Amino acid sequence: MLLLAIETSCDETAAAVVRDGRELLSSVVSSQIAIHAEYGGVVPEIASRKHLEMITPVINQALREAGVGLSAIEGITVTRGPGLAGALLVGLSAAKAIACARGIPFVGLHHIEGHLLATFLEKPVEFPFLALVVSGGHTHLYLVAGVGRYRTLGRTIDDAAGEAFDKSAKIMGLGYPGGARIDALAREGDPAAVRLPRPMMNDGSLNFSFSGLKTAVLQHVAKHPVTIPGQPANDLSASFQAAVCDVLAAKTREALRRTGAERLVVAGGVACNSGLRARMGRLARDLGIELHIPSPALCGDNAAMLAVPGDYYLEHGLASPNSLDAVATWEMDRIGEGSR
Ligand code: KG4
Ligand code: ZN
Repeated sequence: MLLLAIETSCDETAAAVVRDGRELLSSVVSSQIAIHAEYGGVVPEIASRKHLEMITPVINQALREAGVGLSAIEGITVTRGPGLAGALLVGLSAAKAIACARGIPFVGLHHIEGHLLATFLEKPVEFPFLALVVSGGHTHLYLVAGVGRYRTLGRTIDDAAGEAFDKSAKIMGLGYPGGARIDALAREGDPAAVRLPRPMMNDGSLNFSFSGLKTAVLQHVAKHPVTIPGQPANDLSASFQAAVCDVLAAKTREALRRTGAERLVVAGGVACNSGLRARMGRLARDLGIELHIPSPALCGDNAAMLAVPGDYYLEHGLASPNSLDAVATWEMDRIGEGSR
């Protein structure tokens, strides 16, 4: 099936054309980061308006780059949630409008389902596998038994890993979003320079907590003001990144032990982090398991990732009803309910 995929859950307007859930023909991502950066975070009202302005040009660009016309598209896959309600509605309405006008099916998906399966666009992974999803809104461990078959093993009880990166970067005066900036500075710093906590690392659960780590960064900066650019920011960035990676690696190792999974997928925007990619590489080598981390362009928000589960559902006749609503909060364990 030739699918058009649309993603507008947060601050990226994205569209892609993918054949058979595997062959990526185009992937266009129009980021609003520069607009929101001056407010220090995403402003929902501005995000919706910008999506509205960009949705048609972005879809047209995706079709043009794929070298196909709208008449060749056989189905549409779109993010239904979770995310900003107004932002989601722009993508969902566009998907419904095209599906209705063209008489083709569409399916509304969970955003994280896309992140989980994005790596299939580069190389299919055998089920079952363990997945660590680390993004701006999620830090979750899932056991993935097949498309649509996800069991949550652990999750953050407060901030997500990406949120911790962004909030800590803000405290250090690195701007928004600061994950990639911390990553760059950490390469020049000493990870042992600042003693920071590893929250919940050895508590026996598979859950995470990152808000205490952010508070420790805040307290450190209050005592030792960070000058940018300079050694303190490099060392604090490296120490913070090491603390996050230690916790993520320890919990992932424990989840692999408990499930006996032989394959690991790491996904979401924070999976771009060079320290985390290296750490997971070491973990996989140690344990002799298969590791799959998508290329950075497929880790961050994009529409192409939705085509992997989208193709599966539409091929199985599981389209969404035209009455489908957008959902701001939505647990992965309940993805089947009302969506198809
Ligand atoms: O998956 P994503 O693009 O959007 C959400 O679904 O949230 O993830 C965005 C998050 C942001 O918090 C951003 O700071 C973080 O991913 N991020 C990084 C890096 N690149 C993006 N965090 C750490 N290191 C990076 N290199
Ligand atoms: Zn995302």
